[in-house]
Amino acid sequence: MTAACSNPRRRASRLHQRLALAGLLLAGVCAAATAEQLPRFVSEKGRHALLVDGAPYTVLAAQLHNSSAWPSVLPGSLDQVVALHANTVEAPVYWEQFEPALGRYDTANVDALIAQARQRGLRVALLWFGSWKNGQMHYVPEWIKRDAATYPRALDEKGQPVDVLSPYASANVEADTRAFTALMAHLRKVDGDRHTVILVQVENEPGTVGAVRDHGAAANAAFAQPVPAAITAKLGKPAGSWQQVFGPEADEAFNAYGTAHYIEQVAAAGKQAYPLPMYVNTWLRYKGKKFPGLDYPSGGATVNVFDLWRAATPSIDFIGTDIYTSDYNEYTKVISQYARPDNPAWVSETGFEPATVPYLFHVLGQGGIGFSVFGMDGADSPQKQTATAAHAANFGQLAPMQRILAKAAFEGRLQAVAEQPGQPQRTLRFGDWEVRVSYGAPYWGDADPILSGNADHDGRLLVVQTAADQFLLTGFAARAEFARVANDDLHGQLLRVELGHYVDGQWQFERLLNGDQTDYGLNFVRTDPPVLRVTVGTY
Ligand code: DGJ
Repeated sequence: MTAACSNPRRRASRLHQRLALAGLLLAGVCAAATAEQLPRFVSEKGRHALLVDGAPYTVLAAQLHNSSAWPSVLPGSLDQVVALHANTVEAPVYWEQFEPALGRYDTANVDALIAQARQRGLRVALLWFGSWKNGQMHYVPEWIKRDAATYPRALDEKGQPVDVLSPYASANVEADTRAFTALMAHLRKVDGDRHTVILVQVENEPGTVGAVRDHGAAANAAFAQPVPAAITAKLGKPAGSWQQVFGPEADEAFNAYGTAHYIEQVAAAGKQAYPLPMYVNTWLRYKGKKFPGLDYPSGGATVNVFDLWRAATPSIDFIGTDIYTSDYNEYTKVISQYARPDNPAWVSETGFEPATVPYLFHVLGQGGIGFSVFGMDGADSPQKQTATAAHAANFGQLAPMQRILAKAAFEGRLQAVAEQPGQPQRTLRFGDWEVRVSYGAPYWGDADPILSGNADHDGRLLVVQTAADQFLLTGFAARAEFARVANDDLHGQLLRVELGHYVDGQWQFERLLNGDQTDYGLNFVRTDPPVLRVTVGTY
């Protein structure tokens, strides 16, 4: 970065002194310097942002089916990501393909992914299918699968091997670390100047299916030791054995620590090679599931061991949620569990169905950094067409303004809601103003005094405050009404309602709304709803 770019005041005074041509040249330098910045995850005042090319970025993503990140099928799959209006593709790199023989690396798949994503203007969240894939070890190379003596599996409480590598075997963590580091070094070489890859998911839904903890000899020896002091200190717990510190959850907590510590070593070494933002995704403990190792992989970053995971993985920037439900209470409960001052809302996967569409708005309203639908590529079907249309409308509406949304969320100026069944009204407060959101009203004219909401509950709305008296709104199947609620004698009024749209973050004015289009509230229809810029005032 040039000195002039790093000091805006000095830059401004110089620009005033220089000719316009010199100013233009300097602007060009600043743009180049910005593009060279590495993607970075930042948190401030309990809010979060993923910075891409130096500015907050909302990840509107689609994840390919597990077996689609191969050059033979990739073009068709990526075309479907583009058709969805996603700005990011989540795609795996398979350890078994990347390291077919010990120490021999094959970069063909990842190179094809980067090249073809670039051709389509997509960013990439790269998923490292390494030691863990859905609480099992199916993506480790064949030479590891065949050699359990060198690369031991976890043992259940009867001493039987399960289908996952032991998190307590140094050969396992060393092998994964070597391969992941080679991958990150390769990324730096081929993408260090372009940043097509903006995020890396380390492993996939880690944890153990088939046992609550590893009972191998090394694991048992570690279990007999006290909980590491660094962990008890960070958790604010007294020193003691796993049993003493975690009681009935000792086995699960121990497996969580083992898994998290293993992944920390992999991620830390990978970051040394190339420090991209890294996250872990979670097979959740939700929907009434409560038996670790059976209902969900034991030792993943589930809500009951979340603090332990954060304490054990300083190299992991955040924890993601793989949410496979469309139930409002369940969905929003998960988001509230993971959206915290030390972690952003990040839907690393969600079901590719119309019913999950409104939750993108809920996630953004909770300061979320992104949302990814899973398994949207492949064979056509009527269900797939419906899901594609629904999510494409959502992403298509938000993608051209995603930078504005991400910046506003980071600065605490964005509020957004998804329709809750049985609750046809919500109120959002912005200083002296309220935005009253309702569902089920007609697109103009008086609404029924008793609103029923939308039959499919797919209403959603977001509001960005752009100045004290200016707001940006968009949504679907919703009505918004402004009310001034300051404690004085003044009344509120709409001064100006612009309808338009964004192209690459630039506002394109189309017309002013007034009369029937504003007297009954501002209405957001289901198909091609408007984007509005509203100025309010008093009298
Ligand atoms: C979650 C996993 O992370 C994905 O790789 C995929 O297996 C989906 N489940 C399938 O529902």
